[in-house]
Amino acid sequence: MVYTSFIGRSLIEPGDFSLEEMEILFSLAEKIENDENYLRESCRGKLLAALFFEPSTRTRLSFEAAMLRLGGTCLGFAEPGSSSAAKGESLADTIRTAACYADAIVMRNPKEGSALLAKQFSSVPVINAGDGGHHHPTQTLTDLLTIRRLLGKIDTMTIGFCGDLKFGRTVHSLVKALARYANIKMLFISPKELVIPQYIKNNLIKQGIVFEERENLEKSMSEIDVLYMTRVQRERFFNEDDYIRLKDTYVLNSEKMTFAKEKMLVLHPLPRVNEISIEVDNDPRAAYFKQAKYGMYARMALLALILGVSC
Ligand code: CP
Repeated sequence: MVYTSFIGRSLIEPGDFSLEEMEILFSLAEKIENDENYLRESCRGKLLAALFFEPSTRTRLSFEAAMLRLGGTCLGFAEPGSSSAAKGESLADTIRTAACYADAIVMRNPKEGSALLAKQFSSVPVINAGDGGHHHPTQTLTDLLTIRRLLGKIDTMTIGFCGDLKFGRTVHSLVKALARYANIKMLFISPKELVIPQYIKNNLIKQGIVFEERENLEKSMSEIDVLYMTRVQRERFFNEDDYIRLKDTYVLNSEKMTFAKEKMLVLHPLPRVNEISIEVDNDPRAAYFKQAKYGMYARMALLALILGVSC
């Protein structure tokens, strides 16, 4: 069956797909996970342009792995210095050009709103792989798929977001996506300087979503079903002193894990720096490397759907 509603669609922010469409995508990702030959070679002859104006390990590699596993091919650049952006070419012209060569474009760019701009100048679908501190919708697909696979549901839970909630685009996207599910309570745990932006809180209030802002992680642990840790992002600070003062505000270690529920999930979009001690990696509740793998399945499903593969 071909899901025609997805064909040629861009993904710029987490609300771009309906809940029904998200279900189709997650079911497809689970089929791919369960049968590694499923959809193999289904994108033969298709090209994905991966344009990364900012560093990435997981997003870029998982998109490349996804496209290669589907039988397609990738082209692009991993840093803007090797593209004509270094000579002053505009984003609009870069996108128009990449759209001449590829069937879809995935782009990461440090500027908020750049993905929407790219969509406006592209004749092929554009997938936002992170636009500054704004959104990272394919990380959200990854996060929701991980929660669905490991908890068996996406609704009815308390999720704790901890760390840099001001600049963290993965948090901004996941909050927006989770607000569409039933019985979600959100705890925002951050230092005062890195609180979740007011516009996001206003939207949650309008939607009647229950949330609380806190500073203490230990005292919140026992309430949480999914703990979403984040890195304090050096690259988003204007002032190095502020970064140094705030970077180790929260460090999740084995001692803090003793306060957590037996089935709590620890997620992290990664990369981590110090915010999760490596001793936590052996805790069965630590799911961040499984999450990185689910990212590939989610991106395979996304590419197959927007490229019109029969699934
Ligand atoms: N989660 C994520 O976006 O990781 P990368 O920066 O390594 O792509």
